[in-house]
Amino acid sequence: MAVSNKNASPVKIILPESEMPKQWYNIAADFKTPMLPPLGPDGKPISPEMMSAIFPMNLIEQEMSSKRWIDIPDEVREILFKWRPSPLVRAVALERLLGTPARIYYKNESVSPAGSHKLNTAVAQAYYNKIAGTKHITTETGAGQWGSALSYACTVMGLSCKVYMVKVSFEQKPFRKMLMQTWGGTCVASPTDQTNAGRSVLAKDPNCPGSLAIAISEAVEEAVSDKTGSTKYALGSVLNHVMLHQTIIGQETKKQLALAGEKKADVVIACAGGGSNLAGLAFPFCKDKIEGANIDIVAVEPASCPSLTRGTFAYDLGDMSGMTPLLPMYTLGHEFIPDTIHAGGLRYHGMSPLVSKAVQDGLIEARSIGQTECFDAALKFARSEGIVPAPESSHALAMAMREAVKAKEEGKEKVIVFGLSGHGLLDLVGYDKYMSGALSDFAPTDGQIAASLACAEGFPKP
Ligand SMILES: Cc1ncc(COP(=O)(O)O)c(C=O)c1O
Repeated sequence: MAVSNKNASPVKIILPESEMPKQWYNIAADFKTPMLPPLGPDGKPISPEMMSAIFPMNLIEQEMSSKRWIDIPDEVREILFKWRPSPLVRAVALERLLGTPARIYYKNESVSPAGSHKLNTAVAQAYYNKIAGTKHITTETGAGQWGSALSYACTVMGLSCKVYMVKVSFEQKPFRKMLMQTWGGTCVASPTDQTNAGRSVLAKDPNCPGSLAIAISEAVEEAVSDKTGSTKYALGSVLNHVMLHQTIIGQETKKQLALAGEKKADVVIACAGGGSNLAGLAFPFCKDKIEGANIDIVAVEPASCPSLTRGTFAYDLGDMSGMTPLLPMYTLGHEFIPDTIHAGGLRYHGMSPLVSKAVQDGLIEARSIGQTECFDAALKFARSEGIVPAPESSHALAMAMREAVKAKEEGKEKVIVFGLSGHGLLDLVGYDKYMSGALSDFAPTDGQIAASLACAEGFPKP
């Protein structure tokens, strides 16, 4: 049911619970050519059994599935109902501020208990682990959004959870650690001295700020070291099943745009770290695009970690020390350590293979942006719309604002939709630094990227 203010088009569009999607959408079924398989250390496609040391078989089946629609279990839907369907909101005040004829909508995933879209897959992954008999889950986290989402989901499903948090974010965002502990999770700063992977990084650089790739190595190592099989690892992005679980976002958005009386979206924008909120919002629109719709779908990444815009499409590891399979993806090289920007969730060297394929197929266009423009946009949004965006989400916001200004210059009434993947209420240290003029922009040089990509040179070529 659309909620509308007087005399105007609706500001927030709320779907009834009965309209929450009952299935996830798997874009792999609609690509014109098949996905390349992940490869094992021998260069051959990995088998489900090889992945079973890390993931439960029910999630491996989803990972490898080419079925277009996959049912969402009732127990998962029941928990998603706590905050879903999430609102689609028209950013009227921002439109006024920019003086644009564009209509700007944001899909507000910050309303989940953990404050971001990450809970959509955390609940699903914890559920599938529970029914497969898992007792303990390990994971990594960048900004802390994923770690807190998984801590909550594990508590709900009666599992314990250990989170390896990238050290720079651990120090920048102490409240995320406290949130994880509040939900019963354990959080440690990675690199740690608790795993071989962590110890070998610390031996080379005791002050290493950490990276998602290192934290993944540590979490996977802990999972595979438990020979009872009751510890598994969960990833908050990148893999196919994670993209799948997020597609509830875009499916809801399409219904909400129709309720708002919009015939179509002209531009759909999301930030991209490992690709999951982008996939969630964009893949249902990509389906329309595959069927002939004219939509610009934009992935926005930080200039400091530009895997899609300056990386190479190659087989590369998902982590630092080779605990994961080789994935066909855009990558900066698994040894790439990005600068310590405040959007910690976007500091990943690679990109989801499904998103990489959508970019290769021309369904999604990639752009990069610096963090100061993002914080500037975030302040404008906070001071007009009221919500303080997560630094990650501010990348999508800043690009939406660029598009809205372009629509003004062109005198076009475009419909722009962007993903507000999370709130930034626990990221205020970054805001404080920006407001006191202490933040600057970073971009790796071509030489740095080339040097980092050398670590993937020996792997099979896609
Ligand atoms: C709020 C928020 N948005 C976006 C991301 C990026 O992840 P992904 O590209 O998987 O959506 C993160 C990752 O931590 C996040 O916390």
